[in-house]
Amino acid sequence: MSVAVVGCGVIGRSWMRVFTRAGMPVRVWDPSPEARVTALAWHDAEVTRDRRGGGGAVVASSLPAALDGVRWVQESGPESLDAKRALFAELDRHAPPEAILASSTSTLDMSAIAEGLPGARRCVVAHPVNPPHVVPAVEVLGGLHTDAAVVQAACDLLRSVGQVPVRMHRYVPGFLLNRMQAALVREAIALLEAGVADADAIDAVIRDGLGLRWALMGPFGVANTNADGGAREYFTRYGASFRMLMDDLAGSTTLTPELIERIGGGVDASYPGVPRERLREWRDRMVERITAMKATDHP
Ligand SMILES: NC(=O)c1ccc[n+]([C@@H]2O[C@H](COP(=O)([O-])OP(=O)(O)OC[C@H]3O[C@@H](n4cnc5c(N)ncnc54)[C@H](O)[C@@H]3O)[C@@H](O)[C@H]2O)c1
Repeated sequence: MSVAVVGCGVIGRSWMRVFTRAGMPVRVWDPSPEARVTALAWHDAEVTRDRRGGGGAVVASSLPAALDGVRWVQESGPESLDAKRALFAELDRHAPPEAILASSTSTLDMSAIAEGLPGARRCVVAHPVNPPHVVPAVEVLGGLHTDAAVVQAACDLLRSVGQVPVRMHRYVPGFLLNRMQAALVREAIALLEAGVADADAIDAVIRDGLGLRWALMGPFGVANTNADGGAREYFTRYGASFRMLMDDLAGSTTLTPELIERIGGGVDASYPGVPRERLREWRDRMVERITAMKATDHP
């Protein structure tokens, strides 16, 4: 089964490796020749790095050529409703009728992207975490006109290539992951702004505290293991404390230049002299190791 990756910037090129690693031939299209060259070079370097082989990736000569005979299209073009609507109209026109059209959109509602399209039933959001070849979760949801069977087939396909599909019932801005991230980041910024602690201390309670358990279980799963009687007992016992803290949490915070500088200074102090590229490589390598351990050591 071959797939098309349409738009091969940061996210598209990572999707290329997700599919080739699973043995699928990938056809790539991007209107920018520079993006195409960079993506192929990045992909080849990644194949060398992970030594996991798989299918090949080729650049197609046009968008219709990229879509010829594919069963899955992973759209990863610019994040604007107009751009996605125009692109999905092209995808729907040229992709085989049985192909699923998936968008990597971080913020947009598929109901709006696919509005009025003859093939709206086959359009889904498959929102990855950056970079998807390292972080497996993908948020999956349809629009108003998407077939439930298409959402199910999308989840099956993503699982078959090693991702973890996370199915949503309906659209909310930011989906699940970015909303929860924003809730936490909002509080982190507010604590820094109020001078409660330094940036490194705020990072440390996640890095060396909550985050270690969250890599294994979500907030509900952790609660379930934090009381002898499980999640029910935990939330019954601590419900009032959570209510008090939730009432005390900060509202929206404006990221002023001064605040951004304090965040920048804080992370510089956390990793003095370590090049950012090395931090990024270490982060991805460790995430891959944790993911591999989780695959072999179950509760
Ligand atoms: N970067 C992230 O952290 C992240 C995470 C999850 C999802 N996303 C989503 O993935 C999508 C791509 O984001 P990105 O960070 O890779 O952006 P990017 O700017 O790196 O890449 C976008 C690519 O789309 C290409 N493009 C422009 N017009 C096009 C067209 N008509 N057809 C096909 N390709 C076209 C551009 O040349 C560029 O290479 C966006 O929808 C974004 O919201 C991004």
